[in-house]
Amino acid sequence: MPVTIKTDEELNLMRKAGELLAQVHEELHDALRPGISTLELDAIGEEAIRSRGGIPNCKDYEGYPASVCISVNDEVVHGIPKAETILKEGDVVSFDTGLIYKGYHSDAARTWGVGKISPEAEKLIEVTRQSFFEGIKYAKAGNRLYDISKAIDKYVTPFGYGIVRELTGHGIGTELHEEPYVPNFRQLFRRGILLKPGMTLCVEPMITMGKRKIAFLDDDWTVVTLDGSIAAHYENTIAITPDGDPEILTIIK
Ligand code: MF3
Ligand code: CO
Repeated sequence: MPVTIKTDEELNLMRKAGELLAQVHEELHDALRPGISTLELDAIGEEAIRSRGGIPNCKDYEGYPASVCISVNDEVVHGIPKAETILKEGDVVSFDTGLIYKGYHSDAARTWGVGKISPEAEKLIEVTRQSFFEGIKYAKAGNRLYDISKAIDKYVTPFGYGIVRELTGHGIGTELHEEPYVPNFRQLFRRGILLKPGMTLCVEPMITMGKRKIAFLDDDWTVVTLDGSIAAHYENTIAITPDGDPEILTIIK
């Protein structure tokens, strides 16, 4: 499928889908505390989505069993919520979730600490978040897609962290995953497609405190770091605007 350009009407629906998702993330963050299970958090997230008229887009995606991907500590993405996974002070938790509103998808991820976490973990979370903002400085009409990838890499690499390569950001619209794929690391000898107003993208750096190599758990979903180091993830759905900075659709304005 080619890269889609959204009309103003479609962008309005994507704005709404994004705004609702930002509220869902706020509810998830408010619910996060020591003693809660990731299954309970998934139920809170699912209810937050459905009560707003959204449909969870993770649920049943290629058989994924929950509405919110919840990844703890060395889990990078696609962790499966479980009654047995009880969170404790010091854990690092990533929520990755999305919804469909009137046929249009939104997708966003956040990493938080449970109670007090180590300064090293705080820094990883902050650098991961900032890397998104460094990347989207280049998400402008007339620039090229991999300018974003390069900016993320350039910002993150000096910290000595790993950038996950096997998973990327993506286009989004009437499908959760559309063309183009948005890598978080520098692409050699290619600058990627020309960015145009009305393109909607998910930019989502996944950063590890140690090495970048990942592995799958036996559940066929959970992505963990091979070296057991903790990971962070930050994602928003953005729209390329006719001029200037992109519009971030999945934050509360
Ligand atoms: N929201 C995530 C993404 O960016 C995960 C999709 S749902 C899952 O792709 F089923 F794959 F977990
Ligand atoms: Co995504």
